[in-house]
Amino acid sequence: MLNKKTLLLAATFIIVGNSFAHADERFPSIKDETVKKECGDCHMAFQPQMLPQRSWVKIMDTLGDHFGEDASLDKATAEGIKNYLVENASDAGWWSGKFMRGVRDDWVPLRITEIPYWVREHNEEVPNYAWSDPKVKSKANCAACHPRADMGNYDDD
Ligand code: HEC
Ligand code: HEC
Repeated sequence: MLNKKTLLLAATFIIVGNSFAHADERFPSIKDETVKKECGDCHMAFQPQMLPQRSWVKIMDTLGDHFGEDASLDKATAEGIKNYLVENASDAGWWSGKFMRGVRDDWVPLRITEIPYWVREHNEEVPNYAWSDPKVKSKANCAACHPRADMGNYDDD
């Protein structure tokens, strides 16, 4: 019998099943308003789950020379942001995801776009001409190709 309740149940299964299948490509959206504001000004605020703890520490300790720009913040604000990023880093949990694969212990990557998993995904799937598209400009411009990147969703391009 196909009543409203069974339909609803079926829909729930589809949604839940789907988010499990794509669990690797989804990240929680950033909850911390200060991080969103201060780190989402010049580019989107990148999800902390894509870099290890040591990377966030180094990035936060060198904001005065941040990829050629001055992104410095007062000490208290910077400490708060650093804590949030470190607590949610790719190696913060009991299980390190794909973004930790092939990242050597003695390497402190400063770019998500240098992480082996990121490089592999994009080498395989993105044609070279796409990078020189004027709408893209930079590899770090995630939202150009992933419209819901700021919500941590990278599987709907
Ligand atoms: C004043 C502008 C500015 C602010 C504010 C800023 N950034 Fe950046 N950030 C940049 C620029 C410029 C780049 C290099 C972008 C590129 O290569 O296209 C960059 C790149 C990055 C990258 C590397 C992206 C990649 O994988 O290539 C990370 C990570 C990053 N920023 C983190 C942060 C964090 C964390 C904050 C907040 C504390 C922040 N940024 C605030 C300007 C800024
Ligand atoms: C020029 C377009 C482009 C840019 C810019 C780009 N990506 Fe991608 N990305 C792709 C394509 C195409 C794929 C492969 C299709 C797919 O798997 O959904 C992909 C795959 C991914 C995946 C794996 C998703 C999956 O379904 O397996 C992640 C995670 C990801 N990108 C994150 C990022 C992040 C983070 C940035 C910015 C630092 C970024 N991408 C910038 C085009 C781009």
